[in-house]
Amino acid sequence: MDELTSQQIWSSWQDGLCREDASLVISSGGNEWIPRIQQDEREMVSFLDALKSLIPAEQRKVALEIGLFEGGTHLIWKMLFKHVISVEINPSSCLIVAKTLKDKTNSTIICASSQLPGTVKTVQKVLAKLGEAIDFLLIDGDHSKSAVESDYLNYEPLVRIGGVIAFHDSREIAPVRDFVADLEYGRYCHKEEAVKMQHFLYHHGISYYVKDR
Ligand SMILES: C[S@@+](CC[C@H](N)C(=O)[O-])C[C@H]1O[C@@H](n2cnc3c(N)ncnc32)[C@H](O)[C@@H]1O
Repeated sequence: MDELTSQQIWSSWQDGLCREDASLVISSGGNEWIPRIQQDEREMVSFLDALKSLIPAEQRKVALEIGLFEGGTHLIWKMLFKHVISVEINPSSCLIVAKTLKDKTNSTIICASSQLPGTVKTVQKVLAKLGEAIDFLLIDGDHSKSAVESDYLNYEPLVRIGGVIAFHDSREIAPVRDFVADLEYGRYCHKEEAVKMQHFLYHHGISYYVKDR
C-alpha cells in the first residue's frame, strides 16, 4: 500500500482517524472532544515531507516527543513511526490522551517533567525494551532556554546517527529561537561544530537537523 502523503496525514489527524471510538471520546457541552494541535498546517505538512525523505519508512522506528499537550502531534507521529514516546508534565493531558488513543500498543506516555533524571532513565528503559535508539526527537515542552537546553542535553545522546532532531516554536518564541541559533552558528558551548539547521518559519516555526556524529 502506498504511504499517505503529508497532506493526507494532516487531514486524517483532523478527521479523527486515530482516535478511539465515540464511546471513549470525551464530551464537553454536547460537543465531541477533539484533541487540539499546536501546529501550523503549512509548517507541519512541509516538515512531514522533509522527515519522510530524511528517514525512509523502514527506518522509522521510534519517535520521542517532549510536550504532548492534547496529543495532536503524538497522533501524527504514530502514522509514521512504529512506536511513539511522549513526555508530558501535565497529568490531565496524559490521562485524556491515553484514554482516547485508538491503538495503545505503539504509544508510551510518560507523565513527568522531561528535566528529571528519573524521566531520562524511564525513556532509556523504554528504548532498551524496544531494542532501538531514537530516530526522531521533537523538543516542544517547556520553552524557556534552560529547559530547551536541558531537553537537548538529556535526549540528544539517545538519538541515533542519521536521526532527526527538531525544535518547535523556533520562530515565535525567543528562547527557542536563540537556542536554535546558538546550535546553527556554532555558539553552543556543549557542541564543537555548528549544525546544518533547516527551517520552516511560516508561523510558530519548526527547525531541524540531521545528527551526523
Ligand atoms: C506546546 S505544548 C506541546 C504541543 C504538542 N506537541 C502539539 O503540537 O500539539 C507544550 C507541552 O509541554 C508540556 N510541558 C511543559 N513543561 C514540561 C516539562 N518540563 N516536561 C514535560 N512536558 C512539559 C506542557 O504541559 C504542554 O502540554
